[in-house]
Amino acid sequence: MPSNNSVATEASLEKLISAIDALDAVVSEWGEHERLIVKTLRKAIDDLNKEAFARLIKTVKQNPEAMSALKEAMADEVVYSVFRHHGLIKPSLNERIEMALETIRPMLAGHGGNVELVSIDLPSTVVVRLIGACSGCPASELTLSEGVEKAIKEFCPEITEVTKAKGICSSVEGTAVNFISPFAKNQTKNWIYVANFDELPENDFIVREVDGQSILLAKTENNVVCYRNACAHLGMPLDSSMVTNGVLKCSYHAFEYLLKSGECLTVPEVQLQTHMVKVTDNRVEVCLS
Ligand code: FES
Repeated sequence: MPSNNSVATEASLEKLISAIDALDAVVSEWGEHERLIVKTLRKAIDDLNKEAFARLIKTVKQNPEAMSALKEAMADEVVYSVFRHHGLIKPSLNERIEMALETIRPMLAGHGGNVELVSIDLPSTVVVRLIGACSGCPASELTLSEGVEKAIKEFCPEITEVTKAKGICSSVEGTAVNFISPFAKNQTKNWIYVANFDELPENDFIVREVDGQSILLAKTENNVVCYRNACAHLGMPLDSSMVTNGVLKCSYHAFEYLLKSGECLTVPEVQLQTHMVKVTDNRVEVCLS
């Protein structure tokens, strides 16, 4: 006989949202006064939960291993959705691309077409596929540049190139799109030893090669962070960057980032790509995103 807890754990995001939608439908039939009371109550509970989660994150950030566990928990769609609902984490690049494509889909659908995301070639290229009527349309280049590309660049300033996938087009119902949230990646963790904790300089970084990828490892405020060694501007390596007062400045065009979080101070919409990191005794291990 499963416990209430295990039943709750097994409940899918879809089922949980359906339950809320069903209650919303009931409430929407009520009078204005009652609906306002429900709305106010809901907001008060949301505010309470948001404050609690924000305090939890603040505490967890003090501990690298706990932070690593929190990032791991973000791979869970329910945890991720609740944190996103409260605005406690930024939308991933995949989400923003999908938001951009959603804005132009009604127009494409009006012409019997659609568009799907095929891949993201970090740091700055997105590959899409025009499908349905759009795929063979003589005006597909215009659709790509004036519709798809403009929308993606508006939502994702870090994307500088949008290209069309080569090969056979799928149907509208095709399943070629593979949306994987960065938070959902690495369900099977592959931790790789990269350095000893005591060799990390304080408030500075070192560069390592892992599985053919260059990474930055930094220790700040007793926390260890790991980033892809690529500036969010044009993807140039950050090896020769200077760190001053916790701010890393790219040597190419002076984009600045908080070393402790990877947040970009120059263009707040972008950030350094993080990899999970854990420290066990003196061993620093990373899990590539
Ligand atoms: S590549 Fe332009 S600021 Fe880093």
